[in-house]
Amino acid sequence: MTADSPIGIMDSGMGGISVLREITALLPNENFIFYGDSKNAPYGSRTTEEIYHLTSRVVDELLDRGVKAVVIACNTASSAAGKRLREKYPSLPIIAIEPALKPAVIGCPNGRVLVLATEATLRETKFANLMDAWKDRAEIIKMPLPGLPEFVERGELDSPALRDFLSSHFKALGGKTVDGVVLGCTHYPFVKKVISELFDNKVKIYDGAAGTARQLRRRLYSRNLLNNAAQKGTITWINSSEDPAMIELSKKLYMIEI
Ligand code: DGL
Repeated sequence: MTADSPIGIMDSGMGGISVLREITALLPNENFIFYGDSKNAPYGSRTTEEIYHLTSRVVDELLDRGVKAVVIACNTASSAAGKRLREKYPSLPIIAIEPALKPAVIGCPNGRVLVLATEATLRETKFANLMDAWKDRAEIIKMPLPGLPEFVERGELDSPALRDFLSSHFKALGGKTVDGVVLGCTHYPFVKKVISELFDNKVKIYDGAAGTARQLRRRLYSRNLLNNAAQKGTITWINSSEDPAMIELSKKLYMIEI
């Protein structure tokens, strides 16, 4: 692998495009391969072992295509497979994402922070450790939202059904106000506007995409792998679904305002 090799970015589906957007804004001259495993999405309600094997297969495919680094742009895959994949490929820079709990707690001191993520992300040790580190500085409420990635995978980013789905989950707060909301799944930023509106646009919303992009730049820099090309880079789109509409939707999600 050399500095002009592409960077592989993977997600269980199209959610990782919210991370890709931050990465291409920060590193416009790099070439990217975005792999969405929509055929196997959602990962969030699967077992740790299943998520590991699915993620590992995607990483192998990206390596076959000559990537110089891999970004796991999926909180679920990062928690279930990040550590094992780093052990499997010790010389490959693997950048994982985690729910942006740290900035949320710092931004809402002694407040109440709602963490929205998949069941798998919230049950894994990685999140338990993160929560342990921050639990004394804010009240942290975990809320899994199984079924939400499917809305995004259909391109349904605002609809009465989506609003009903979210408000029925938020009812579990029993009227408690929240100060900050962490979007701990990379699909969720695509429905950020609706989530914000359901909290009367009065909450601060955090996600881990920008931090992940900065982490990728640091890792490439430290290994002398940043692409110094003068021209803008390219994005190659791959989706495991046989439906060609998924690539069209991916490109749309890359461009729309969120
Ligand atoms: N995008 C994935 C994440 O960040 C989750 C979606 C899924 O359940 O597949 O956690």
